[in-house]
Parts: sequence; C-alpha cells; structure tokens
Amino acid sequence: MTNHIYTTFEQIKGRDAKEVYLKQKGKVIWMTGLSGSGKTTLASALEKRLFELNYFCQILDGDNVRSGINRNLRFTEEDRIENIRRIAEVSKLFMNCGIILICAFISPTNEMRALAREIIGEDDFLEVFIDTPLEVCEQRDPKGLYKKARTGEIKNFTGISAPFEIPNQPFMVVDNTNADIKATVREMLKKIIPQVRWD
Ligand code: PPS
Ligand code: MG
Repeated sequence: MTNHIYTTFEQIKGRDAKEVYLKQKGKVIWMTGLSGSGKTTLASALEKRLFELNYFCQILDGDNVRSGINRNLRFTEEDRIENIRRIAEVSKLFMNCGIILICAFISPTNEMRALAREIIGEDDFLEVFIDTPLEVCEQRDPKGLYKKARTGEIKNFTGISAPFEIPNQPFMVVDNTNADIKATVREMLKKIIPQVRWD
C-alpha cells in the first residue's frame, strides 16, 4: 500500500516539504546578552506575537533549561560551554521538526556562540545581540544578582567577574535600554521573517 504522506512529500520537488505543510521553516533565534538585558522579556513577547500569527515556536531560556536538562551545570567556563552545546543540540532537534526556537542565553563568549552556530548551521542560526549596557542591567538588577556579584557572594558573574564578549557579526543588534518591547518585537520580526508585512 502506498504511504500517502510519503508520496506527497516525494512529489514536492525542490521544496522543503515541512515548510509547505507547516507554513513555516524551523530556525533558531539566538538571543545573547547580559543578565538583565531583557532576553527573557523579549523572548516571551516575541513568542506571543508569533503564536498570534499562527507560527509554532518554543522558548528555551537559561531559567528553564538550567533547572531541568542542565541542572548539573554551574557557571564555570567549561560548564557554560557544555550548557550551550546541549542547548544547541536540543534546538536542532526541535528545528528539524519545523519549529521556530527562541533561545535566550547569556552565551557570553565568541567560542560558545560559534559552537552553537556550528551545531545549528550557519543559515538557520540568527544571532540577536541584546545590547543593553552593563550599567542599565545592573541598575535593573531584577533578581538582585548584580548586588551579590559585587559583594562576591556570587562568583563568575557575567559582566562583573566573568567576561562578556561583544558578538563579532550578529544577525541583528537590539538596544533594549528603553525597553520598548512592542517596537523591538516588530523590528525583530521584520528582520527574521521579512516576507510578512508586520506593520
Ligand atoms: S550562560 O552563560 O549562557 O551559560 O548562562 P545562562 O544559561 O543563560 O544562564 C543565565 C541565568 O543564570 C542566572 N545566573 C547567572 N548568570 C550569569 N553569571 C552567573 N554567575 C550566574 N549565576 C546565576 C541568571 O539569572 C541568568 O539569567 P538572565 O535571564 O540572563 O538574567
Ligand atoms: Mg532571563
């Protein structure tokens, strides 16, 4: 007996069959930036807007991944690399199902981001640098972590006692100092899915 789905997939020559059925193509929107820069807030707002428009997506965030799949990892450089490696591998699996991933990780070094890019693949890895200055992040300090980092209660804290390297050639740079979330999400969508009119 002929497998109908298989036959249909075979008939779609030169096109991504999943894209035809799902009306979207899997990709990874990779947000990098300091703690408190607005990654989680922007990821949620972006997800909400994409869902409203019937795009199927999944957020992976430091806060959820580190309490689950990566709960054995800390904040040494070695553990951060392993954190990013696992996240990139998981993202790739989701992406290959046609899902749009919204990843929100500090991913502080060029080496870590290059690793993620290599695993996910150059074309599908959209690196978005959330470029909120350290002073602004520290002033916000939503979890009180900067305060603890300054007193030394938290070691290896990004921006204070551990490095954050500015991305070399990000797909996009977002200044989230003013936290105009709606405008920023629109700007991001215009660049990420340019075939749609977002205004
Ligand atoms: S990394 O560097 O990419 O592996 O970090 P990530 O997985 O994104 O996790 C960042 C969140 O962990 C909390 N936290 C710390 N961040 C930086 N440095 C240290 N030492 C640290 N300890 C705990 C912090 O809440 C980060 O969340 P965000 O949302 O970035 O503020
Ligand atoms: Mg966060």
